[in-house]
Amino acid sequence: MKLKLLVVAAMVGMMSMPASADVEFRHAIEGTVLDFSFAKKGGNTPAFKKFIVDGKNPYNNDKDAIQEGHDAYMPACSGCHGHEAEGKLGPGLADDYWTYPGAETDKGLFEILYGGAKGMMGPQNVNLNTDEMLHIMAWIRSIYKGDPKKAKWLK
Ligand code: HEC
Repeated sequence: MKLKLLVVAAMVGMMSMPASADVEFRHAIEGTVLDFSFAKKGGNTPAFKKFIVDGKNPYNNDKDAIQEGHDAYMPACSGCHGHEAEGKLGPGLADDYWTYPGAETDKGLFEILYGGAKGMMGPQNVNLNTDEMLHIMAWIRSIYKGDPKKAKWLK
């Protein structure tokens, strides 16, 4: 009887373990490892599974994905970052100045979206699933107006 309970407990434990990632994703400020078990459902798509292995956003330069990203950006981000990501309450996202230089890579940009930063930049994992975040990131990269040499995500 006791053994059965132990087995059940072990199985429940295993099921709640976050999906394993080859790249380690950390909170932009606290440095703690991000826990994907908090992720909104529906985001564990083939694109996201690929992303957590090499940290490269498969939606970059994908026209349809960029359009979807724009559609998702409008209600989720434009109120604070502006319709063209020119900056408003939050900083501009289309130039090459980053408060968090890590955002120059897609891994770093994702870490800010998923885990949040300071103040009003809360974790977006409640509103958006991880696949939607990748779409929004692809749109942000598509409107980049900064120095092409600083576009680390292209490398
Ligand atoms: C309620 C307002 C608000 C919303 C909504 C919001 N942000 Fe932010 N965001 C901010 C603020 C304020 C900062 C600055 C925080 C800091 O410096 O730690 C910020 C910072 C950022 C940064 C870091 C920029 C840099 O220069 O390093 C990124 C990237 C970002 N937000 C992307 C997004 C995206 C994408 C969305 C939509 C999914 C979003 N934010 C939604 C307010 C918001």
